[in-house]
Amino acid sequence: MNDTFSSILLRWFATNGRQLPWRETSDAYAIWLSEIILQQTRVEQGRDYWMRFMQRFPNVATLAEASEDEVLRLWQGLGYYSRARNLHTAARQIVALGAFPQSLDGIRALKGVGDYTAAAIASFAFNIPAAAVDGNVYRVLARHFGIETPINTAEGKHLFTALANELLPPHEAGTFNQAMMDFGATLCTPKRPHCDACPFMETCVARRQNCVDSLPVKLKTTKVQERRLAYIYIRYRGETAIRRRGAGDIWQGLWEPVVVMDNGQWMMENGEWTVRPEGTLDPSRMENGQSMMNEAVLLAKDVKHVLTHRIILADFYLLETSAKPSLPAEYIWIPESSLADYAQSRLIQRLLSFLPAMSI
Ligand code: ADE
Repeated sequence: MNDTFSSILLRWFATNGRQLPWRETSDAYAIWLSEIILQQTRVEQGRDYWMRFMQRFPNVATLAEASEDEVLRLWQGLGYYSRARNLHTAARQIVALGAFPQSLDGIRALKGVGDYTAAAIASFAFNIPAAAVDGNVYRVLARHFGIETPINTAEGKHLFTALANELLPPHEAGTFNQAMMDFGATLCTPKRPHCDACPFMETCVARRQNCVDSLPVKLKTTKVQERRLAYIYIRYRGETAIRRRGAGDIWQGLWEPVVVMDNGQWMMENGEWTVRPEGTLDPSRMENGQSMMNEAVLLAKDVKHVLTHRIILADFYLLETSAKPSLPAEYIWIPESSLADYAQSRLIQRLLSFLPAMSI
């Protein structure tokens, strides 16, 4: 049964596998880079970024020598920026080690590398027999073997990982993992899988029992949180104020305009602005703060930015002023023309696109 599963899969892959640039190399650095990019990014989008990174940083030493700011700038638009920061940290880890680690544990110890990514890199670069188990693999195995154990439980993780490792042919670990990824991504898709073209038509339990759409089983988890943010873009004599987000934040290291509301905690109570997280500007405590808000023009409201565990709704104001507002120390004034030199999140880039051209 097991031999049958992997041999059918490998045969399917030989004619249906995708040609991807990181599959044409055994350079562990290039493979690691692709896996970090693909952690939360689709292949089509990831490909361009991988090319750009490989061009600018052809090896781990060039990446390690770069500034974090440059790495973040090149990452701009991909989201989940902790990946870029971890990539940079791990590059320095690798340089300190003297070579790319060649064992599963060694690879797993790199910053930003989890079980799945470690197994993927180890199998692709060194043919180490470790199954890379992600959502695709859960889905394919749950359907083919008719497994109803929820995939987001410790038991499910254990069970599916053990099964994948049992199925993996030890001498073709890399090919097996690539094949599972492609099979899940292109044929055994979450919605409307292509069962008519499936090489497992005869053996797939879910198909035989007509329950393809209800597998894999996932337990309901807490619902996505909403976070409200408001920014003021200040335009003062060709300059604007920005700050860099600090530690413990999804946008750590990225730059943004003046924040006047974070997490819905900007509240007017009896004519006063109240409670706010640190670093958020409190207009009521500023000289002319209230009039600043009154003068600011709303450019965009409820701009929606969807992340895995959070939906962000952002408002964006423009304040054109000839009186320089005094801001908390973490804000710096920069010429508006140099804004592009500061790495920004996709949300901030979207907000900035609402700005009218400068009135001279
Ligand atoms: N997703 C994660 N890693 C991948 C890879 N190496 N090829 C295609 N999709 C992937």
